[in-house]
Amino acid sequence: MKPLKIAGIGYCVPETVITNDDLTKLYETSDEWIFSRTGIKERRVVSGNETAIDLGYDAAKKALDKSGFKPEDIDCIISAASAPPQLYPTLSCTLQAKLGIPNQVPAFDLTAACTGLIYALQVARGFIGAGIYKTILIVAADNNSKITNWEDRGTSILFGDGAGAMVVTESDDGIDDILSINISADGSIGQMIQTNMPSQCCPLVEQADEVGTGKIIMNGKDVYKFAVSTVPAYVEECIQKSGMKSEEIDYLIPHQANQRIIESIQNRLKYTDDKVISNIKYYGNTSAASIPIALVEGVEQGKIKLGSTAVLCGFGAGMTWGAAVVRLRKGIC
Ligand code: UT7
Repeated sequence: MKPLKIAGIGYCVPETVITNDDLTKLYETSDEWIFSRTGIKERRVVSGNETAIDLGYDAAKKALDKSGFKPEDIDCIISAASAPPQLYPTLSCTLQAKLGIPNQVPAFDLTAACTGLIYALQVARGFIGAGIYKTILIVAADNNSKITNWEDRGTSILFGDGAGAMVVTESDDGIDDILSINISADGSIGQMIQTNMPSQCCPLVEQADEVGTGKIIMNGKDVYKFAVSTVPAYVEECIQKSGMKSEEIDYLIPHQANQRIIESIQNRLKYTDDKVISNIKYYGNTSAASIPIALVEGVEQGKIKLGSTAVLCGFGAGMTWGAAVVRLRKGIC
Protein backbone atom coordinates (compact mmCIF):
# COMPACT_ATOMS: atom_id res chain seq x y z
CA MET A 1 0.00 0.00 0.00
CA LYS A 2 1.12 3.55 -0.67
CA PRO A 3 1.89 5.38 2.60
CA LEU A 4 -0.43 8.11 3.89
CA LYS A 5 0.60 11.46 5.30
CA ILE A 6 -1.63 13.54 7.58
CA ALA A 7 -0.90 16.95 6.07
CA GLY A 8 -3.21 19.36 7.90
CA ILE A 9 -5.89 19.46 10.59
CA GLY A 10 -8.35 22.19 11.58
CA TYR A 11 -11.42 22.68 13.73
CA CYS A 12 -14.24 25.09 14.34
CA VAL A 13 -16.77 25.45 17.14
CA PRO A 14 -19.69 27.87 17.30
CA GLU A 15 -19.39 30.91 19.56
CA THR A 16 -22.55 30.41 21.60
CA VAL A 17 -21.88 28.73 24.95
CA ILE A 18 -24.57 26.91 26.94
CA THR A 19 -23.48 26.16 30.51
CA ASN A 20 -24.87 23.52 32.83
CA ASP A 21 -26.50 26.32 34.80
CA ASP A 22 -28.24 27.49 31.62
CA LEU A 23 -29.78 24.01 31.29
CA THR A 24 -31.52 24.41 34.65
CA LYS A 25 -33.86 26.79 32.80
CA LEU A 26 -35.04 23.82 30.68
CA TYR A 27 -35.47 21.06 33.26
CA GLU A 28 -34.59 20.00 36.76
CA THR A 29 -30.85 19.38 36.83
CA SER A 30 -27.71 20.85 38.32
CA ASP A 31 -24.13 21.64 37.40
CA GLU A 32 -23.04 19.21 40.13
CA TRP A 33 -25.13 16.31 38.68
CA ILE A 34 -23.96 16.87 35.11
CA PHE A 35 -20.30 17.53 35.90
CA SER A 36 -19.89 14.63 38.31
CA ARG A 37 -21.44 12.13 35.86
CA THR A 38 -19.97 13.40 32.60
CA GLY A 39 -17.13 15.88 33.18
CA ILE A 40 -19.06 18.47 31.14
CA LYS A 41 -19.43 22.10 32.30
CA GLU A 42 -20.52 23.71 29.04
CA ARG A 43 -21.02 23.05 25.34
CA ARG A 44 -21.14 25.17 22.15
CA VAL A 45 -24.27 25.28 20.00
CA VAL A 46 -25.16 26.77 16.64
CA SER A 47 -27.76 29.52 16.64
CA GLY A 48 -29.92 31.23 14.05
CA ASN A 49 -29.04 30.14 10.53
CA GLU A 50 -25.65 28.71 11.48
CA THR A 51 -25.28 24.97 10.78
CA ALA A 52 -22.69 22.21 10.64
CA ILE A 53 -22.02 23.30 7.05
CA ASP A 54 -20.57 26.60 8.29
CA LEU A 55 -18.52 24.83 10.95
CA GLY A 56 -17.28 22.22 8.47
CA TYR A 57 -16.37 24.92 5.94
CA ASP A 58 -14.27 26.81 8.48
CA ALA A 59 -12.55 23.65 9.77
CA ALA A 60 -11.80 22.53 6.20
CA LYS A 61 -10.30 25.90 5.27
CA LYS A 62 -7.99 25.73 8.28
CA ALA A 63 -6.95 22.14 7.50
CA LEU A 64 -6.26 23.08 3.87
CA ASP A 65 -4.28 26.10 4.95
CA LYS A 66 -2.09 24.06 7.30
CA SER A 67 -1.60 21.30 4.73
CA GLY A 68 -0.27 23.66 2.08
CA PHE A 69 -2.73 22.18 -0.42
CA LYS A 70 -5.17 24.30 -2.40
CA PRO A 71 -8.80 23.38 -3.07
CA GLU A 72 -7.82 22.38 -6.63
CA ASP A 73 -5.36 19.78 -5.26
CA ILE A 74 -8.11 17.80 -3.52
CA ASP A 75 -9.27 14.79 -5.51
CA CYS A 76 -11.83 13.30 -3.09
CA ILE A 77 -13.98 14.59 -0.21
CA ILE A 78 -15.36 12.39 2.56
CA SER A 79 -17.56 13.90 5.26
CA ALA A 80 -18.58 12.15 8.43
CA ALA A 81 -21.75 13.51 9.94
CA SER A 82 -24.13 11.81 12.38
CA ALA A 83 -27.04 13.92 11.22
CA PRO A 84 -26.09 16.52 8.61
CA PRO A 85 -28.33 19.57 8.21
CA GLN A 86 -29.40 18.16 4.83
CA LEU A 87 -29.44 14.51 3.80
CA TYR A 88 -28.73 15.70 0.28
CA PRO A 89 -27.03 17.46 -1.24
CA THR A 90 -24.54 15.85 1.14
CA LEU A 91 -22.24 17.85 3.35
CA SER A 92 -19.34 16.83 1.09
CA CYS A 93 -21.09 18.06 -2.08
CA THR A 94 -22.06 21.34 -0.41
CA LEU A 95 -18.52 21.87 0.86
CA GLN A 96 -17.04 21.03 -2.54
CA ALA A 97 -18.95 23.97 -4.03
CA LYS A 98 -18.33 26.34 -1.10
CA LEU A 99 -14.59 25.61 -0.93
CA GLY A 100 -14.07 25.82 -4.69
CA ILE A 101 -12.90 22.21 -4.99
CA PRO A 102 -13.19 21.33 -8.68
CA ASN A 103 -16.41 19.69 -9.75
CA GLN A 104 -16.14 16.09 -10.89
CA VAL A 105 -14.09 15.45 -7.74
CA PRO A 106 -16.06 12.71 -5.92
CA ALA A 107 -17.73 13.87 -2.72
CA PHE A 108 -19.75 11.70 -0.35
CA ASP A 109 -20.77 11.38 3.30
CA LEU A 110 -20.46 8.35 5.48
CA THR A 111 -22.46 7.71 8.62
CA ALA A 112 -20.65 6.12 11.50
CA ALA A 113 -21.81 8.65 14.12
CA CYS A 114 -19.12 9.48 16.67
CA THR A 115 -16.70 7.00 15.06
CA GLY A 116 -17.04 8.83 11.73
CA LEU A 117 -13.57 10.34 11.67
CA ILE A 118 -11.84 6.99 12.20
CA TYR A 119 -14.08 5.36 9.57
CA ALA A 120 -13.31 8.16 7.11
CA LEU A 121 -9.60 7.82 7.80
CA GLN A 122 -9.76 4.10 7.06
CA VAL A 123 -11.65 4.71 3.78
CA ALA A 124 -9.18 7.44 2.80
CA ARG A 125 -6.30 5.12 3.63
CA GLY A 126 -7.75 2.50 1.30
CA PHE A 127 -8.12 5.03 -1.54
CA ILE A 128 -4.64 6.49 -1.09
CA GLY A 129 -3.05 3.12 -0.40
CA ALA A 130 -4.46 1.70 -3.64
CA GLY A 131 -3.46 4.76 -5.64
CA ILE A 132 -7.08 5.66 -6.48
CA TYR A 133 -6.96 9.19 -5.03
CA LYS A 134 -3.94 11.16 -3.90
CA THR A 135 -5.14 13.98 -1.66
CA ILE A 136 -8.36 13.65 0.32
CA LEU A 137 -10.25 16.13 2.45
CA ILE A 138 -12.00 14.57 5.45
CA VAL A 139 -14.58 16.68 7.27
CA ALA A 140 -16.37 15.67 10.47
CA ALA A 141 -19.12 18.15 11.28
CA ASP A 142 -22.28 17.96 13.34
CA ASN A 143 -24.94 20.22 14.76
CA ASN A 144 -26.18 17.79 17.38
CA SER A 145 -28.05 20.59 19.14
CA LYS A 146 -30.57 20.60 16.27
CA ILE A 147 -31.42 16.93 16.68
CA THR A 148 -31.33 16.82 20.47
CA ASN A 149 -34.55 16.40 22.40
CA TRP A 150 -34.19 19.38 24.72
CA GLU A 151 -36.88 17.93 26.99
CA ASP A 152 -34.79 14.83 27.66
CA ARG A 153 -32.33 15.69 30.42
CA GLY A 154 -30.67 12.28 30.12
CA THR A 155 -29.30 13.02 26.63
CA SER A 156 -29.40 16.78 25.99
CA ILE A 157 -26.79 17.45 28.68
CA LEU A 158 -24.21 15.56 26.64
CA PHE A 159 -24.09 16.97 23.16
CA GLY A 160 -22.48 20.01 21.59
CA ASP A 161 -21.77 21.22 18.06
CA GLY A 162 -18.46 21.41 16.23
CA ALA A 163 -16.38 20.39 13.24
CA GLY A 164 -12.95 19.03 12.51
CA ALA A 165 -11.17 18.47 9.20
CA MET A 166 -8.09 16.63 7.98
CA VAL A 167 -6.21 16.71 4.71
CA VAL A 168 -4.51 13.38 4.02
CA THR A 169 -2.30 12.69 1.06
CA GLU A 170 0.06 10.15 -0.43
CA SER A 171 3.23 10.46 1.59
CA ASP A 172 6.17 11.92 -0.36
CA ASP A 173 8.86 10.58 1.99
CA GLY A 174 7.70 6.97 2.23
CA ILE A 175 6.66 7.35 5.87
CA ASP A 176 3.15 6.17 6.73
CA ASP A 177 1.41 8.28 9.39
CA ILE A 178 -1.06 5.48 10.08
CA LEU A 179 0.76 2.91 12.17
CA SER A 180 -2.40 0.88 12.66
CA ILE A 181 -6.14 1.35 12.29
CA ASN A 182 -9.20 -0.76 13.09
CA ILE A 183 -12.90 -0.08 12.62
CA SER A 184 -15.79 -2.23 13.88
CA ALA A 185 -19.57 -2.33 14.22
CA ASP A 186 -22.29 -4.32 15.97
CA GLY A 187 -25.73 -3.62 14.53
CA SER A 188 -27.39 -6.08 16.90
CA ILE A 189 -27.12 -3.48 19.70
CA GLY A 190 -27.90 -0.56 17.42
CA GLN A 191 -31.04 0.41 19.33
CA MET A 192 -28.87 1.89 22.11
CA ILE A 193 -28.68 5.20 20.20
CA GLN A 194 -31.23 6.01 17.52
CA THR A 195 -32.32 8.94 15.41
CA ASN A 196 -35.38 7.91 13.42
CA MET A 197 -36.17 10.18 10.51
CA PRO A 198 -39.65 11.68 10.35
CA SER A 199 -41.43 9.89 7.52
CA GLN A 200 -44.80 8.71 6.32
CA CYS A 201 -46.09 6.08 3.95
CA CYS A 202 -47.92 6.94 0.76
CA PRO A 203 -51.29 8.39 1.88
CA LEU A 204 -53.06 5.66 -0.13
CA VAL A 205 -51.71 2.84 2.07
CA GLU A 206 -51.78 1.84 5.72
CA GLN A 207 -49.57 4.11 7.85
CA ALA A 208 -46.67 2.86 10.01
CA ASP A 209 -47.25 2.39 13.75
CA GLU A 210 -44.48 4.81 14.61
CA VAL A 211 -43.31 8.00 12.97
CA GLY A 212 -39.74 9.12 13.68
CA THR A 213 -39.08 12.37 15.48
CA GLY A 214 -35.64 13.08 14.01
CA LYS A 215 -34.33 13.46 17.59
CA ILE A 216 -31.65 11.46 19.40
CA ILE A 217 -33.02 8.66 21.60
CA MET A 218 -30.33 7.12 23.78
CA ASN A 219 -30.11 4.51 26.49
CA GLY A 220 -27.22 6.19 28.30
CA LYS A 221 -26.60 3.40 30.79
CA ASP A 222 -26.27 0.74 28.09
CA VAL A 223 -24.02 2.98 25.97
CA TYR A 224 -21.85 3.61 28.99
CA LYS A 225 -21.54 -0.12 29.74
CA PHE A 226 -20.83 -0.89 26.08
CA ALA A 227 -18.12 1.78 25.89
CA VAL A 228 -16.21 0.80 29.03
CA SER A 229 -16.43 -2.92 28.28
CA THR A 230 -15.41 -2.70 24.59
CA VAL A 231 -13.23 0.31 23.88
CA PRO A 232 -10.27 0.06 26.32
CA ALA A 233 -9.28 -3.48 25.23
CA TYR A 234 -9.86 -2.56 21.58
CA VAL A 235 -7.51 0.42 21.86
CA GLU A 236 -4.89 -1.83 23.42
CA GLU A 237 -5.23 -4.31 20.52
CA CYS A 238 -4.83 -1.50 18.00
CA ILE A 239 -1.64 -0.41 19.75
CA GLN A 240 -0.33 -3.99 19.65
CA LYS A 241 -1.08 -4.10 15.92
CA SER A 242 1.04 -0.98 15.40
CA GLY A 243 4.08 -2.79 16.75
CA MET A 244 4.49 -0.16 19.48
CA LYS A 245 4.12 -0.55 23.22
CA SER A 246 1.46 1.61 24.84
CA GLU A 247 4.12 3.42 26.89
CA GLU A 248 5.91 4.39 23.66
CA ILE A 249 2.87 6.32 22.39
CA ASP A 250 2.87 9.96 23.42
CA TYR A 251 -0.85 10.76 23.64
CA LEU A 252 -4.31 9.26 23.93
CA ILE A 253 -6.82 11.44 22.04
CA PRO A 254 -10.18 9.77 22.60
CA HIS A 255 -13.69 10.64 21.47
CA GLN A 256 -15.06 13.02 24.08
CA ALA A 257 -18.30 11.36 25.22
CA ASN A 258 -17.94 11.12 28.99
CA GLN A 259 -14.94 11.87 31.21
CA ARG A 260 -15.46 8.57 33.06
CA ILE A 261 -15.27 6.63 29.77
CA ILE A 262 -12.07 8.51 28.88
CA GLU A 263 -10.65 7.53 32.28
CA SER A 264 -11.51 3.87 31.71
CA ILE A 265 -9.33 3.89 28.58
CA GLN A 266 -6.62 5.87 30.39
CA ASN A 267 -6.58 3.35 33.25
CA ARG A 268 -6.30 0.41 30.87
CA LEU A 269 -3.28 2.01 29.17
CA LYS A 270 -1.86 3.13 32.55
CA TYR A 271 -1.37 6.63 31.19
CA THR A 272 -0.67 9.65 33.35
CA ASP A 273 -3.02 12.66 32.94
CA ASP A 274 -0.53 14.62 30.82
CA LYS A 275 -0.75 11.95 28.08
CA VAL A 276 -4.55 12.05 27.89
CA ILE A 277 -6.26 14.84 25.97
CA SER A 278 -9.63 15.77 27.35
CA ASN A 279 -11.61 18.93 26.62
CA ILE A 280 -15.09 17.51 27.18
CA LYS A 281 -15.50 20.04 30.00
CA TYR A 282 -15.88 22.87 27.48
CA TYR A 283 -17.45 21.22 24.44
CA GLY A 284 -19.45 18.16 25.51
CA ASN A 285 -19.80 15.41 22.91
CA THR A 286 -19.34 16.86 19.41
CA SER A 287 -19.64 13.44 17.69
CA ALA A 288 -17.03 12.70 15.02
CA ALA A 289 -15.58 16.19 15.39
CA SER A 290 -14.46 15.60 18.96
CA ILE A 291 -11.11 13.94 18.14
CA PRO A 292 -9.80 16.66 15.76
CA ILE A 293 -11.08 19.42 18.08
CA ALA A 294 -9.24 17.84 21.03
CA LEU A 295 -6.13 17.29 18.92
CA VAL A 296 -5.77 20.79 17.50
CA GLU A 297 -6.81 22.52 20.71
CA GLY A 298 -4.33 20.30 22.57
CA VAL A 299 -1.58 21.61 20.30
CA GLU A 300 -2.76 25.23 20.67
CA GLN A 301 -2.72 24.90 24.45
CA GLY A 302 0.72 23.26 24.51
CA LYS A 303 -0.62 19.94 25.84
CA ILE A 304 0.44 18.15 22.64
CA LYS A 305 3.87 18.58 21.11
CA LEU A 306 3.96 17.72 17.43
CA GLY A 307 6.57 15.33 16.05
CA SER A 308 4.92 12.69 18.22
CA THR A 309 2.55 9.73 18.10
CA ALA A 310 -1.01 9.38 19.36
CA VAL A 311 -3.69 6.76 19.67
CA LEU A 312 -7.11 8.01 18.58
CA CYS A 313 -10.32 6.16 19.39
CA GLY A 314 -14.00 6.68 18.77
CA PHE A 315 -17.30 4.94 19.48
CA GLY A 316 -20.94 5.71 19.04
CA ALA A 317 -24.21 4.97 17.32
CA GLY A 318 -24.44 1.92 15.14
CA MET A 319 -22.95 0.73 17.40
CA THR A 320 -19.61 1.56 15.83
CA TRP A 321 -16.13 1.89 17.21
CA GLY A 322 -12.61 2.34 15.93
CA ALA A 323 -9.04 3.21 16.85
CA ALA A 324 -5.89 4.36 15.08
CA VAL A 325 -2.28 4.87 16.05
CA VAL A 326 -1.01 7.87 14.11
CA ARG A 327 2.07 9.99 13.64
CA LEU A 328 1.53 13.71 14.25
CA ARG A 329 4.06 15.57 12.13
CA LYS A 330 5.25 19.06 12.93
CA GLY A 331 3.27 21.83 11.28
CA ILE A 332 0.01 19.92 10.74
CA CYS A 333 -1.95 22.31 12.95
O1 UT7 B 1 -20.93 8.94 21.65
C1 UT7 B 1 -21.63 8.11 22.56
C2 UT7 B 1 -22.64 8.97 23.23
N1 UT7 B 1 -23.22 8.52 24.45
C3 UT7 B 1 -22.59 8.28 25.62
O2 UT7 B 1 -21.40 8.23 25.75
C4 UT7 B 1 -23.49 8.09 26.81
C5 UT7 B 1 -22.85 7.31 27.93
N2 UT7 B 1 -23.70 7.36 29.12
C6 UT7 B 1 -23.60 8.35 30.02
O3 UT7 B 1 -22.76 9.23 29.89
C7 UT7 B 1 -24.52 8.29 31.23
O4 UT7 B 1 -25.36 7.16 31.15
C8 UT7 B 1 -25.41 9.56 31.37
C9 UT7 B 1 -24.54 10.72 31.84
C10 UT7 B 1 -26.09 9.91 30.07
C11 UT7 B 1 -26.47 9.34 32.47
O5 UT7 B 1 -25.87 8.97 33.69
P1 UT7 B 1 -26.44 7.73 34.51
O6 UT7 B 1 -25.65 7.63 35.74
O7 UT7 B 1 -26.45 6.54 33.60
O8 UT7 B 1 -27.89 8.21 34.89
P2 UT7 B 1 -29.30 7.53 34.61
O9 UT7 B 1 -29.77 7.79 33.24
O10 UT7 B 1 -29.31 6.11 35.10
O11 UT7 B 1 -30.19 8.34 35.62
C12 UT7 B 1 -29.99 8.26 37.06
C13 UT7 B 1 -30.97 9.21 37.70
C14 UT7 B 1 -32.40 9.02 37.25
O12 UT7 B 1 -33.25 9.26 38.34
P3 UT7 B 1 -33.92 8.03 39.16
O13 UT7 B 1 -34.69 7.27 38.13
O14 UT7 B 1 -32.75 7.26 39.70
O15 UT7 B 1 -34.74 8.73 40.17
C15 UT7 B 1 -32.60 10.10 36.21
O16 UT7 B 1 -33.93 10.50 36.10
O17 UT7 B 1 -30.63 10.56 37.40
C16 UT7 B 1 -31.75 11.22 36.79
N3 UT7 B 1 -31.27 12.13 35.77
C17 UT7 B 1 -30.91 13.39 36.03
N4 UT7 B 1 -30.91 14.12 37.16
C18 UT7 B 1 -30.46 15.37 37.08
C19 UT7 B 1 -31.06 11.88 34.44
N5 UT7 B 1 -30.56 12.97 33.84
C20 UT7 B 1 -30.48 13.92 34.80
C21 UT7 B 1 -30.03 15.25 34.79
N6 UT7 B 1 -30.03 15.94 35.94
N7 UT7 B 1 -29.57 15.85 33.67
